[in-house]
Amino acid sequence: MRHVNTNCGADEWISIAPVSEIPVREGRNVRLEDGTEVALFNLGDERFLAVENRCPHGNGPLADGILSSAGGSVTVTCPLHSWRICLESGSVAKPSGQRGCVATFPVTIEGGIVRLQLPVRAVQEAAA
Ligand code: FES
Repeated sequence: MRHVNTNCGADEWISIAPVSEIPVREGRNVRLEDGTEVALFNLGDERFLAVENRCPHGNGPLADGILSSAGGSVTVTCPLHSWRICLESGSVAKPSGQRGCVATFPVTIEGGIVRLQLPVRAVQEAAA
């Protein structure tokens, strides 16, 4: 049996890409060392949002979705079946009543580089 312990007590920031490599109003998939895929979106005006790149409905690639802004929140529409995911909270905006959500990641810009904050995680141990 394999056990995975997650420690979210400390965080680390990692550099992802130059701001100029992510076009305004588009998303890009970023694969982290641990295999996690992150959908990073450029909202313009040096504002970026990032969520796990896995739609809660059927694992669709959110980085390939269409951004929209309405009612003060920013959502992405999944390219597979059109669920809309709020990029600030990671929750499902449409269809209503769905309880799924995706992880969100704080993003900052430093010296023209997009940086992502990750929880320090995963002490993995295998037990026989
Ligand atoms: S996989 Fe995203 S809406 Fe179905």
